[in-house]
Amino acid sequence: MSQVSFDEPTRTFLLTTPASSYALRIDADDNPRHVHWGAPLTLGQAAALPTHDGVTSSFASTGGEELAVEGGARFGVPALLVRYADGARGVEWAYEGHDIAEGRLHVRLRDHHHPLGCTLHYAVHEDSDVVERSLTLRHLGTAESADAPIEILRCDAASWSVPAVSGVRLSHTVGEWSGETQLRRTEAPYAETVFTSRRGVSGHYGNPWLMVDAGGADESHGEVWSMVLAWSGSWRITAQRDHTGGPFTVTGGAGHDGLTWRLLPGESHETPVFAGQFSRGGFGATSRGWHRYVAAHVLPCPDEVRPVIYNSWEATGWDVTPEGQRALAVRAADLGAELFVVDDGWFGQRTSDRAGLGDWHPNPERFPHGLGPLVEEIRQLGMGFGLWVEPEMTNPDSDLYREHPDWVLHMPHRRRTELRHQLVLNFARTDVTEWAFKWLDGLVSTYAIDYLKWDMNRAFTEAGWPGHPDAERLWTDHTRGVYSVLDRLRRAHPDLRIEGCAGGGGRADLGMLARTDQTWISDNTDADDRIAIQHGYSQIYPARTMSAWVTDSPNPHTARITPLSHRFHIAMAGALGIGGDLSRWTEAELTEAREMVGVYKEIRPVVQFGEQFRLDDAVQYHAGDRVVVIAWGRDRDLRLAGLSPTDVYVDDATGTEHHAATLLTHGLPLRLPAGERPSAVLRLTRR
Ligand code: DGJ
Repeated sequence: MSQVSFDEPTRTFLLTTPASSYALRIDADDNPRHVHWGAPLTLGQAAALPTHDGVTSSFASTGGEELAVEGGARFGVPALLVRYADGARGVEWAYEGHDIAEGRLHVRLRDHHHPLGCTLHYAVHEDSDVVERSLTLRHLGTAESADAPIEILRCDAASWSVPAVSGVRLSHTVGEWSGETQLRRTEAPYAETVFTSRRGVSGHYGNPWLMVDAGGADESHGEVWSMVLAWSGSWRITAQRDHTGGPFTVTGGAGHDGLTWRLLPGESHETPVFAGQFSRGGFGATSRGWHRYVAAHVLPCPDEVRPVIYNSWEATGWDVTPEGQRALAVRAADLGAELFVVDDGWFGQRTSDRAGLGDWHPNPERFPHGLGPLVEEIRQLGMGFGLWVEPEMTNPDSDLYREHPDWVLHMPHRRRTELRHQLVLNFARTDVTEWAFKWLDGLVSTYAIDYLKWDMNRAFTEAGWPGHPDAERLWTDHTRGVYSVLDRLRRAHPDLRIEGCAGGGGRADLGMLARTDQTWISDNTDADDRIAIQHGYSQIYPARTMSAWVTDSPNPHTARITPLSHRFHIAMAGALGIGGDLSRWTEAELTEAREMVGVYKEIRPVVQFGEQFRLDDAVQYHAGDRVVVIAWGRDRDLRLAGLSPTDVYVDDATGTEHHAATLLTHGLPLRLPAGERPSAVLRLTRR
C-alpha cells in the first residue's frame, strides 16, 4: 500500500511504496532534512531515527537536506541558488505547513524575510517503488506590488541522499552521435561530479539518470538507488561525496550551470520531476522497476502493440520520390510491415541537408499532386502512413527563414553558427509554437497521418532572444514549447502516434516519453554496436519504446558485414523496424525477412509487454506463461532468470521439457547455428 503518513511530534513524514520507504523531517530550524531512503520502515521507526545534522566542525559540512539551499554554514552543491534585489543570497526557510492526499505530499515553505515561497512535491504510487519529486517556486509578491523580481541562479527539482555505505559506485551512460547510451560503472570520487548537457536537449553524451550502489550490486543482487530526471532540455545532475561519512548527495534538475533568469512578482515556476527508486534486487530489478513505472505512469499509450515499421531513411536518404517510396512500400508490405514512414526529403527544397527545413509542404517537383496518391497506395498495401518532421529547425536557405530571420535563436553581434546547415527555431516564442502547431495539425489532418517521427538534429548555440527582457528563460521554455505542441497535437489527433528522435538518441528521456510512443535511440543500425546501445537504453527505458531497425549489410555506418538473421534478432529486442534498401535485397533475403517478421509478431507481446532480464550475451523476456530469449555469441548453457523454480517449461520449437529449477541453475543448453555472428530466438511456454 503506497501512502504518506506524518508524525506530528517529530514532524517526520513517511512515504511508503510496496517495497521501500522514504522519510524526511522538518527540523528545529524549519529546514526539511532527509531521514531515510531504503528498506520499509514504520512511521514509528522512521520518527525514532536521528537526523543527519550535517555539521562536522566549525568548518561545517553539509548533506542530508531535501533541497540543498545556499545560506548559513552550508558548503555543498546548492540545489537552489537565488539572489534578491538587495544583493542578499540564500534562503532561510519558515515551514508553513503541508498537504497530504492520495499518495501525494506537498511541504510548503517560504523564506522568513524575502517573498520567496517553495513547495516540495512528493508522489508515490500503489504499483511502483518510484518516488516522484519536484518543486514549485513562487514569488509571493503581486504583480501590482513594488516587489522586485528574484534572480534564480539554479533551481533543481530535488536533492536525494543515499546512505553512506561501504563504497559508492555510480552507474550512468556516456555516448555520442551514433554511439549513445554506453553504460559505465565507476567508483565515485571524493569530489563533486557533474553530469550535464549544455546543448538544449538531454543529449547523446549522457542520459539524465544515475544509479548508486555500494560497489557489489549486479544484475540480480544488491541495493541500488536510482534517480531519473524527466526533462528533455539541458540538465545538470551533481553528485557529491565527502569523506566525513555523511550521505552521498545527488541533486538534479533542468538547465546547466551559468543560466540565470528572474522570477517575477506573482509568478510560479514548476520544475520537472526528478524521480528516485530504491531496489534490493540489483540492476535488473531496478530497470524492471523503471520499465513498469514508465508503462504505468509516463507513456500515453503503454498497452498498445507497437507496429512493425518500415522507414525509408537508410534506403533513399534525401532522394525521396513517389516511385522510389512506392517500390519500397510494396516490398515492405510483403514482408509484413504494418506502418511505412517516409523520412527526410519529402518537403520544400529538401534535396540535401542544405535547404528546405521550415517549408513544410510536399516538394512540388517530386510530389506535384501532393503526398495524397502515395499515402493512398501505402494504405492500399495495408500499412499505416508515417512522416518525418523536424519542427524546431530551419535552414537559412528556406522560405521560412527568409520571412522570419528573427525566429531563430540568435544574439546581436554574434554569428549564427550553423550545424548541419541549420538553425534552431525559438520554441519559447508563442508565435513560433502557434505556427508549428498549425502546420503540423494541417498536415496530420490532410493525410490522416498515423505516425510522426519528430526529429531534432542540432544543439543550441547563440541561444539569445533579442528584445526579450529575460532571454535565458528560453532554455527551459523552448523545451516546454516542444512539449506544448506535442501535447496539443495528441489532443487534437488522439489516434496519432509519435516517435521521438534527435539525430538518433539525442533526446531519449522521460520528458519525451510522456508524449511519444517510441524513441529512435541511435542512427547506428549496426547490430553489433546496437547490443551495447540497447543495453544502456534498457537500464531505464522499456523495450516497447525502443525502435530498432534491420538495415543493410555491409552496414552503411560501420561497413560491418552481418548475417540477416543476426540483424533481425538484435532488432527484435525492441519495437522491430526495417530500414534497409529492400530494392537491393535478394529473393532469399526477402523470404528470410518475411519469416523473421512472422517470428517477431509471434513473440512481440512477450518482448513489448513482458519483464526484461539482461543475461550474459542474451536478453530474456517473460510474460505470463511465456519466455522468449534472444541470444547471441557462442554455444553455452545459458542461465535464465526470474522463473518460479517449481515450474516446467517446454521449448516451443523442439518440445523439449526443462525444469525451471535447472534453467535457473544449470542453464538452457544453447546451441547456435553455425557461421559468423550466430544468434537465435528461443521460445518457451510453461506447461
Ligand atoms: C536523423 C535521424 O536520426 C535519422 O533517422 C534521419 O531521420 C535523419 N535525421 C534525417 O535527416
